[in-house]
Amino acid sequence: MNTLIGASLPRPDALDKVTGAARYPGDLVRPGMLHLKVVFAGRPHARILEIDSAAALAAPGVVAVLTAADVPHNAYGLIDADQPVLCADVVRFVGDKVALVVAESRDAAEAAARLVRVSYEDLPVVSDPRAALEPGAPLVHAGHGSNLLSHCPIRKGDAAAALSAADVVLEGEFSTSWQDHAFLQPEAGVAYVDEQGRVVIETAGQWLHEDRRQIASVLGLPEEQVVVRYAAIGGAFGGREDLSVQHLLALAAWRLGRPVAIVWGRDESMLAHHKRHPMRVRCRWGALRDGRIVGVESEVVADGGAYASTSAEVIKVAALFASGCYEVPNISADGYAVYTNNLPSGAFRGFGAPQAQLASEVMVTRLAHALGIDPAEMRRINLYREGSIEPTQSPLPPGVSVRACMEAALGELRSRLQIADCRLQIGAASTASQPQSAICNHQSAIRRAWGLACGIKNLGYSFGFPEQATASVALFGGSQVERAEVRAGAAEVGQGVSLILRQIAAEGLGLTLDQVALISDDSAEAPNVGSASASRLTIMAGRAVQDAAAAALREWRAEERPARATAQYRPPATTALDPVTTAGRPNYAYGYAAQAVEVEVDTRTGLVRVLTVISAHDVGRAINRQQVEGQIEGGVAQALGYALLEHFQMREGQVLTPHFSSYLLPTALDTPPEIVPIILELADPEGPHGARGVAELPLVPFAPAVAEAIYNATGAWVCDQPFTPERVLAAIRAQT
Ligand code: MOS
Repeated sequence: MNTLIGASLPRPDALDKVTGAARYPGDLVRPGMLHLKVVFAGRPHARILEIDSAAALAAPGVVAVLTAADVPHNAYGLIDADQPVLCADVVRFVGDKVALVVAESRDAAEAAARLVRVSYEDLPVVSDPRAALEPGAPLVHAGHGSNLLSHCPIRKGDAAAALSAADVVLEGEFSTSWQDHAFLQPEAGVAYVDEQGRVVIETAGQWLHEDRRQIASVLGLPEEQVVVRYAAIGGAFGGREDLSVQHLLALAAWRLGRPVAIVWGRDESMLAHHKRHPMRVRCRWGALRDGRIVGVESEVVADGGAYASTSAEVIKVAALFASGCYEVPNISADGYAVYTNNLPSGAFRGFGAPQAQLASEVMVTRLAHALGIDPAEMRRINLYREGSIEPTQSPLPPGVSVRACMEAALGELRSRLQIADCRLQIGAASTASQPQSAICNHQSAIRRAWGLACGIKNLGYSFGFPEQATASVALFGGSQVERAEVRAGAAEVGQGVSLILRQIAAEGLGLTLDQVALISDDSAEAPNVGSASASRLTIMAGRAVQDAAAAALREWRAEERPARATAQYRPPATTALDPVTTAGRPNYAYGYAAQAVEVEVDTRTGLVRVLTVISAHDVGRAINRQQVEGQIEGGVAQALGYALLEHFQMREGQVLTPHFSSYLLPTALDTPPEIVPIILELADPEGPHGARGVAELPLVPFAPAVAEAIYNATGAWVCDQPFTPERVLAAIRAQT
């Protein structure tokens, strides 16, 4: 049959979401529930001298004020438990939490929270990652000895020798800023103690079982006594990987024995959850006259903020992709993640890859210009291919398709450009001193041009981080299978995984879609498939469901009624890097993409409008074509915000852009009039039906493609993200 795989099936949750019927975490109500308000530090680095809760406790409707002394185990974190639930002695960033006020109403909780008096002694603030690494810098974590959170060196060949022998060597410096996930509903949820004495937390998140692990640890309870359930969600994008309100709700409900609810305002969300890492990249790239890139030296410094979050992993990804998707024989890359008193940085769609590849893509294009080679041809010479050796000295996993993505994007570009009418930047040689506009009128103040970039992102956990997914399938019926129940704790974060998993199960079982039910939103009812992150659920949870369905079918044929089976999928192992040689096998699968982006630059104002985006992706197999297109379109919109608009700023540890009035998100009017998704289906050996992940890929090549388009339009390179009008104008003026 095979009618379900590859179909464009509509999302079953779509109607409820657009009509408002879907229940989001902020819609959840429990009888007799209390309301929680967090007292934030509001200062970036200070010693707590005293917390006086008396006035708050005496306020009308207040039930409790909880402080550090009320937390059974006052430390949590995804990788390192370095973050206090409630600060006892020191606050390290403005969003640190000091107390929780619980009251009979939201208004009462808010009013009383203002009455909690905290006396502080301010401590010196370190807000610049380079300054944080200087000797004598104030320590963010006194016990840590230095502010270096993590260092990832990668060495291959002899970069210094290669650069001194190269025909052309270019230096580059790039910077990126924080990015807020800006999901539609800020953090919210309820928690209560159920009839069985379990603490139940209903929120939104990306990994039921990891949330459960951390909450149980904070409460000092066995994991079975904690249940995490996910309600409808308006997006996550990595921003719900870290705990936000979950453990606070659990603590209050557990301490007070009553249901407790919270809904953060946007200002609280902006202040209190982690952001994408700002990074500064300094690099030198060398190539031979024939276009072969022979050496890359790169230093990537990431602002990790006040707590570890996932910084140690993000910086490895950034270091691994310092040389982008190019096979370079000699590499010396160093990634540093640094503690500061800024907001913690953590997971955000792309996880270090967009920052690193802004640098690598622009450098490849600049080298091409310097050598008089067409930028696409320069890529053909150097792009990863089957069997290429990674920076970590091992062959890439099979299924290397970045070249195919680029050719698909270029093919589409050629077919839409009337090449007779205008000079095409891509496909025609140019030099840095003689930039050529892709489109005609060089005299006009409004210039149009195209830019091209490629991208790579690992799918799944890297560097030896334990990776698995478990699913179970039960089949019910008599002579024939009448219905199937699939259990897999795969977080639906708006990406559509719940439909993907039902499609895979129905296909494997020979059932229709409505014969397959999925239980995926309850940590006590669904097995652990790992997180909705790293573009991994289609591969990982998809394989586990596919394998469990096949096993259940075998049980069925052996006359089991109901027939039940559980399968655990483990992909090929990855390894940590050798501490001396830095060799290793960092990943078991990659996704590849290429984009051609057309922009219009107003050279009088520096304003950049994106007109057309051609986004080519190898998805292995589109399980649901409509959803893949949706991922590409949504990803492009988010990438556009990242490249051009979203300028999250901090000064001395204080957020300067706490609202959507100052932190500008793209709206419908900013999104490109035309987004052309190109879907390639070159099977990945690991994926179900050959599918591979796509979620993060649109974010990777976009910013460098825009930077190149701006260059092609104006002759000016803008290397600091976001490319705001001020920066673009300054770059244009600097060049004349
Ligand atoms: Mo994501 S940045 O892999 O949640």
